[in-house]
Amino acid sequence: MARNSPSTIVLITGANQGIGFGTSRKLAKENNGWQILMGSRNAENGEKAAAELKQEGLSVEPLTIDITDDQLIERAVKEVESKYGRIDVLINNAGIANEGRRPDWSTRQMFKELFDTNVFGHHIVTENFESLLAKSSHPRVIFVSSVLASIHSLVEKQREFANVPLPVYRSSKTALNMIMAYWANKHKVDGWKVNSICPGWIGTNLNEYQGQGTVESGTIHLATMATAGKDGLTGTFSDKEGPIPW
Ligand SMILES: NC(=O)c1ccc[n+]([C@@H]2O[C@H](COP(=O)([O-])OP(=O)(O)OC[C@H]3O[C@@H](n4cnc5c(N)ncnc54)[C@H](OP(=O)(O)O)[C@@H]3O)[C@@H](O)[C@H]2O)c1
Repeated sequence: MARNSPSTIVLITGANQGIGFGTSRKLAKENNGWQILMGSRNAENGEKAAAELKQEGLSVEPLTIDITDDQLIERAVKEVESKYGRIDVLINNAGIANEGRRPDWSTRQMFKELFDTNVFGHHIVTENFESLLAKSSHPRVIFVSSVLASIHSLVEKQREFANVPLPVYRSSKTALNMIMAYWANKHKVDGWKVNSICPGWIGTNLNEYQGQGTVESGTIHLATMATAGKDGLTGTFSDKEGPIPW
C-alpha cells in the first residue's frame, strides 16, 4: 500500500539530466501533491539528480531503470507497486542519438542500439507498467518523440529541419509514434490519454548542447500534456505550436 498519498504519481524515464530532469522539476514545483519518480539508468546519477531537486523542497525520488534491461524494468515495476500501487503518468522520455558519434560503428550497430532504446525500450516499459497505469483513475502516457519523426515534413519539405539527415534517429522516432498509436488505440475505450510530443530543439547532451532552446522551454509542452484533464486529447503528435503532420 501507499506510504504517502500523493494525488498523482509520475514516472519519467531518463530524468537524471536534460528534458527529463527539467520536467521533473517543473511538474513537482507546479503541482502540489504530485510525486515524481525520476528514472535513471545509473543509480548514482539518479540519486544525485533527485537530491538536487529535493534540496529545492520538491517531492521527487530516484528510480533505477535502464529501458534496455528487462530485469531492471521488472524490478522498477515491483518497487513502484510496493510503494505506491499505481502510476498516473508515464513519460517515456529516455533517448539517445548516435549518428556521427560512433565513427567506429557500422550502420547496423547504430540502428540496433538506437532502436533498442528509442523504440523497443519505450514499448516494453509501457507494457510492464500497463497494470499499474490501469489502477489510475486518469492514466496518461507521453512518448517524447521529435518533429524529425514526421515523414510528411521530410517528403514535403514543409517544416523546419526538413533537410536534417539522421536516418537512424529519425526513423526511430517515426517508429515510436506508431508505438504511441498502438497504446492510444488499445486504451481509447478506457479513457487513457496517450500522446507523442516534440519538446523543441533544446540544448542538451543528446545534441552536444547545439539545440537553441533552453531545457525549461523544452518542458512546457510535456507539462501541458502531463496535466491535461480527462477531456484531453489522445493519439496525437504535437509540439507547443500545435499538431505535427505524421
Ligand atoms: N534535445 C532536443 O533537441 C530533443 C528534440 C526532440 C526530441 N528529444 C527527445 O527528448 C528526450 C530527452 O532527451 P534530452 O534532449 O533531454 O537528452 P539528454 O539530456 O541526453 O537526456 C537523455 C536521458 O535519457 C537517458 N537514457 C539514455 N539511454 C537510456 C536507457 N537505456 N535507459 C534509461 N535512460 C536512458 C539518459 O541517461 P544518461 O544520463 O545515463 O545518459 C538521459 O537521462 C529524448 O527522447 C530525445 O530523443 C530531444
